[in-house]
Amino acid sequence: MASCCNPQFLNPRHSLHLLALVLTVTWHFSLTESAGKIQLKGEVGGNVTFRCPVVKQQTIKFFYLQRGPHIFVNGFYESKKVQPWENTRLGHDKTTVHMDSLNISHSGDYLCLIMYSDSHKTETVIQLSVTANYSKPEATVSCRDRFSCLVTCTSHGGYPGTKMMWNVNGSLDWKVVNNSDMSDPVTMMFNSSSTAHFNCSNGEREFSCHVGNVTSNMFPICTPQKKDPNNHFVIIAAATCSILVFFSIVVWLWRKCKTGQKGGEATDVRQECGVNGCKEEVISLNENKGGKEAS
Ligand SMILES: *[C@@H]1O[C@H](CO)[C@@H](O)[C@H](O)[C@H]1NC(C)=O
Ligand SMILES: *[C@@H]1O[C@H](CO)[C@@H](O)[C@H](O)[C@H]1NC(C)=O
Ligand SMILES: *[C@@H]1O[C@H](CO)[C@@H](O)[C@H](O)[C@H]1NC(C)=O
Ligand SMILES: *[C@@H]1O[C@H](CO)[C@@H](O)[C@H](O)[C@H]1NC(C)=O
Ligand SMILES: *[C@@H]1O[C@H](CO)[C@@H](O)[C@H](O)[C@H]1NC(C)=O
Repeated sequence: MASCCNPQFLNPRHSLHLLALVLTVTWHFSLTESAGKIQLKGEVGGNVTFRCPVVKQQTIKFFYLQRGPHIFVNGFYESKKVQPWENTRLGHDKTTVHMDSLNISHSGDYLCLIMYSDSHKTETVIQLSVTANYSKPEATVSCRDRFSCLVTCTSHGGYPGTKMMWNVNGSLDWKVVNNSDMSDPVTMMFNSSSTAHFNCSNGEREFSCHVGNVTSNMFPICTPQKKDPNNHFVIIAAATCSILVFFSIVVWLWRKCKTGQKGGEATDVRQECGVNGCKEEVISLNENKGGKEAS
């Protein structure tokens, strides 16, 4: 590790001012010596701890955790505090930094800089990746007719961008129509969705969709009839009405025929009814007649 420091730097007076200069210089070292990057994973809204490796049992002159070449995150200079990021806290051992309220923009490379009392300096790169879990995918189904359905699966608020995938049992008569993952400009998180077309001529089957390893429920598709209690009610009501109307007509025609019978010959009246297409009427007349004959 190089010692890049001039005596001026060790003067505590202009610490903040010098900070940027020193960090700019050391950043180049970090790029060339970053073979062993430490990986750190966090989730949106969660927290992480940067543990900067200490290699010497000596007093630490300064410790900086910084983002990129210029941005100071947390640390100290000869036990003086420098204005840290609001969502960070220096650990008790003075070389760890706790960071909370993570969001996607916190992802990236951080640099640990430590200088010991003998002016030996070490730097370590810590790569933070912040992810967000997608919501469990939801499906909406819209069928144009009994044989053709469009299904859209949607999932919200994940990171990084991931395509919505399908899992369909059995037949191949379906295809993906489109796919999209759109990111929110502020939170940088993605909504992922996909639409697929199903040809229902092979009958009912099930599907699910997944984004990364977040999987939806299994949903049925191409079900022959919707088992909707409201539908049953409508069907029963309609059937009852038709039966009532039918019997009203029958009764009405029967009465009409009966009055006609009184005026003229019974056979003529029956013929008239036949022409009007009231076959049941003829039958009921016959039944009546039969009844009379029987008695
Ligand atoms: C995100 O998913 C991972 C793995 O499935 C799980 O361990 C973690 O608890 C989830 N995070 C949240 C905030 O739900
Ligand atoms: C995908 O296709 C469906 C059906 O054609 C359409 O309603 C939807 O808006 C499309 N989505 C995108 C992101 O293009
Ligand atoms: C993502 O989905 C959420 C919830 O439906 C919505 O409020 C938001 O506007 C969507 N963002 C984008 C970029 O489509
Ligand atoms: C659905 O598939 C059947 C054969 O399995 C085919 O005859 C029919 O044309 C297809 N319909 C559509 C809308 O693709
Ligand atoms: C899937 O889950 C495993 C553990 O359950 C987790 O380590 C991994 O990051 C998850 N992958 C995605 C893409 O969410």
